[in-house]
Amino acid sequence: MQIVIVGAGYVGLVSSACFAEFGINVTCVDSDSERVRELQDGRVPIFEPGLEDLVKRNAAAGRLAFRDRLSDAIGEADAVFIAVGTPSRRGGQAADLSFVQQATRDIATGLSPVSSRTVIVTKSTVPVGTAALIEQIVVATRPELVPGRDFDVASNPEFLREGSAIEDFMHPDRVICGTESVHAEHVLRELYAPLDVRNLPMMFTDRATAELIKLAANSFLAMKVSFINEMADLCERCDADVQDLAQGLGLDPRIGPRFLHPGPGFGGSCFPKDANALVAIARELDVDVRLVETTIRVNEARKAAMADRVREVMDGDIAGKRIAVLGVTFKPNTDDLREAPSLIIVPKLLEMGASVTAYDPAGSAAPRALPEFRHVRWADSAEAALRDADAVVVLTEWNEFRGLAAHRIADLLREPVVIDLRNALNAQEMRNAGLRYYGVGRGRIHPLGP
Ligand code: UDX
Repeated sequence: MQIVIVGAGYVGLVSSACFAEFGINVTCVDSDSERVRELQDGRVPIFEPGLEDLVKRNAAAGRLAFRDRLSDAIGEADAVFIAVGTPSRRGGQAADLSFVQQATRDIATGLSPVSSRTVIVTKSTVPVGTAALIEQIVVATRPELVPGRDFDVASNPEFLREGSAIEDFMHPDRVICGTESVHAEHVLRELYAPLDVRNLPMMFTDRATAELIKLAANSFLAMKVSFINEMADLCERCDADVQDLAQGLGLDPRIGPRFLHPGPGFGGSCFPKDANALVAIARELDVDVRLVETTIRVNEARKAAMADRVREVMDGDIAGKRIAVLGVTFKPNTDDLREAPSLIIVPKLLEMGASVTAYDPAGSAAPRALPEFRHVRWADSAEAALRDADAVVVLTEWNEFRGLAAHRIADLLREPVVIDLRNALNAQEMRNAGLRYYGVGRGRIHPLGP
């Protein structure tokens, strides 16, 4: 089989490499010629464990090629996946579909129905109704083409977590496809056939439902995170322990243990964007989705509240204090800073008069360039950041931080204050080393006694 994937970003590149690994001939197209040249030279601009090897191996095997022009890639393609960005509109909630619309016009121009009936598949997260819109754009661009005869449009949303995207693609707990076309269903089944060996749950439904499943899944997971974050605040007021609470909740199979880890709020390029896109669609259709709206509000308020929490733990005044921040990415094993809680928390700590020395295992080249971190000093190791600080704040639960010995932390800090906004460290070990430890939802915030 031959496919084209439009977009060499996070979703497009992972999907291209994984489909190629299945033995499918993949052409990955991106309008950014510089990025295409990098990829052709075997350099992968995305920090995703295992991706560079997968790309190199499949490119060397001749199954994966990169192009910057779509029209000469479509040709005999059995399917063309749209994996371009669908960011939130500037200042709004709805998704910006301009990249999808442009890709659709380019695909329509390149279609040659005589040689092969091509299935156009949306892999990007798109608003409900986008597949129908794509069909309209193709017909408007090429009036002679008939949907269901010369081409089809299907939805196949991605469920890839940053940092474990290849694992999620190769071992999905479900593949969701939306289409009304038997031909499109046949092509999609053939593309995912290599996953069949594991009795892959492949679900077919209509296009609108497939589009909504993706938005609803991320909104629900985001709601779960905002829920446990609120429970963490409650635990702090009633001297309960949120980790035991989460464990107790998770033993109920209807709830499950995952996505019940409290923190400084969710970030990333998906949860905030998808929850906002779902709210925007609901508003357009005059439907109340107050649970999702509240999930978003709780999350945004939490990020801002975390800086106040740091000040509260440090006895109410941090002016002139030196704070070490460990981790600025929105989650570990990624270099992605989009919507990261650090973008709100660090500027607020600076506004409160503290100085901040930060360290992130993904590197500081990208964060250094951000205005939010303009006044941040960057360390090249956790120990360097900790040295002579009046407190350490853990913002991202990189495994590297879990390996920090409590006595070493105590030796390096000027003041023995550990504020662990991810509950990544062992509270008892910290206290045994004489550190004053604060974790999220780990009982009342006492004036930091031993
Ligand atoms: C998410 C979805 O999980 C994935 O299925 C979808 O395809 C894309 O969006 P991702 O955004 O990469 O994946 O990260 P994820 O691991 O889901 O975490 C999202 C945010 O929630 C992160 O900021 C994370 O720190 C936070 N989170 C997650 C918590 O605060 N607590 C949790 O228990 C889990």
